[in-house]
Amino acid sequence: MSATDVLAAERADPVAALPAELSIVVPAFNEAANVGLLVEAVAAALPDIRWEMVFVDDNSPDGTSARVRELAAYDARVRIVQRYGRRGLSSACVEGILASAAPYVAVMDCDLQHDERALAAMFATIRSGDVDLVVGSRYVEGGSVGDWNSRRLAASRLATRMATMLTRTPISDPMSGFFMITRDAFERSLPRLSSVGFKILLDIAASAPAPLRIAEVPYTFRNRQHGESKLDSLVLWEYFQLILDKAFGRVIPVRFMSFALVGIFGLAVHFAILTFCYVALGTAFAVAQTAATVVAITNNFILNNLLTYRDQRLKGPALLRGWLTFNLVCATGAAANVGMADWLFERHTYWVFSAIAGVLVSVVWNYAMSSLFTWRQ
Ligand code: GDD
Ligand code: MN
Repeated sequence: MSATDVLAAERADPVAALPAELSIVVPAFNEAANVGLLVEAVAAALPDIRWEMVFVDDNSPDGTSARVRELAAYDARVRIVQRYGRRGLSSACVEGILASAAPYVAVMDCDLQHDERALAAMFATIRSGDVDLVVGSRYVEGGSVGDWNSRRLAASRLATRMATMLTRTPISDPMSGFFMITRDAFERSLPRLSSVGFKILLDIAASAPAPLRIAEVPYTFRNRQHGESKLDSLVLWEYFQLILDKAFGRVIPVRFMSFALVGIFGLAVHFAILTFCYVALGTAFAVAQTAATVVAITNNFILNNLLTYRDQRLKGPALLRGWLTFNLVCATGAAANVGMADWLFERHTYWVFSAIAGVLVSVVWNYAMSSLFTWRQ
């Protein structure tokens, strides 16, 4: 038999793997204890649908990828995308969707908090062809957040209201990470996605060139049984970044906005030190400006590593190397800073303006050079 004959025979064979109708994308970080349970639960919930499940793991230390490969060894519907050196819930979802093939895509968490029993109803709704997006919602009749404390409830409500204003999309639960979308609709949003932070549904809805046709299916948010939540206090900052990017991102890249915000804070630090040294201690202006610059550089390195480059955060030995390169990069920037400021100061420019001019020179330098040498990817 020729190769073409083999292919033809396989196609004629009803048992030969038929393509999946539904790709289920599951972002996972440190979820080794949950992946098996999730596959089992989904298999039980979708006996009549041909699905595939794509886990996207950011090289979790608990061996999530290895666990998925164990499952994949006896279930071809299970697949893994293992990313290295990067973190991020939204970007994980996007890459999982791009690595899958079915005409419909679901996104759900790995920790069993999203009720897999809602998937069948979601699939029936989206396959009817009347909608582009089905959202698993905790806020429509029949849905619930389960037992959340009042603080989490209030925070979720507030973020939801902001999201609704931003997207002008009538989704009762735009913060949901549980939804199903047609591949066509996803591809229409793709060019405008921010992919920052953890609110991928909001990102997709706000990036759609024309309003999406949306349906919602209720579900109850379960409590997590194994592992722990990955969302720390910095998710607020990520949410803020997403909002900024959706509002102004077409004009200024969000990373630069973040760098600039850190820079503004660094400027405050700079002036605190400068004022203290020059005004209070009465040191020479160049000395005060140098001290302020050194403190501001370290401040900016820490904050940028924490916020601006959160997705590629330097840790351990890489942190030290990054701090060193950042200092080296900024050393020339600082020299230009002090040089410029002192040059202006000597020419009787008011000391505040002299300092601002120096700082501006070094901020532009720092951004360009640090993206090349410190947080290079
Ligand atoms: N690959 C990858 N990379 N996965 C991640 C990352 C990451 O950096 N951070 C979190 N995840 C995975 C987790 O393993 C989990 O499967 C899912 O994303 C959600 O993360 P949790 O840590 O469980 O967050 P949560 O329960 O607080 O938030 C979830 O519920 C919200 C509803 O209130 C998320 O689904 C939100 O998107 C959702 O809005
Ligand atoms: Mn969770």
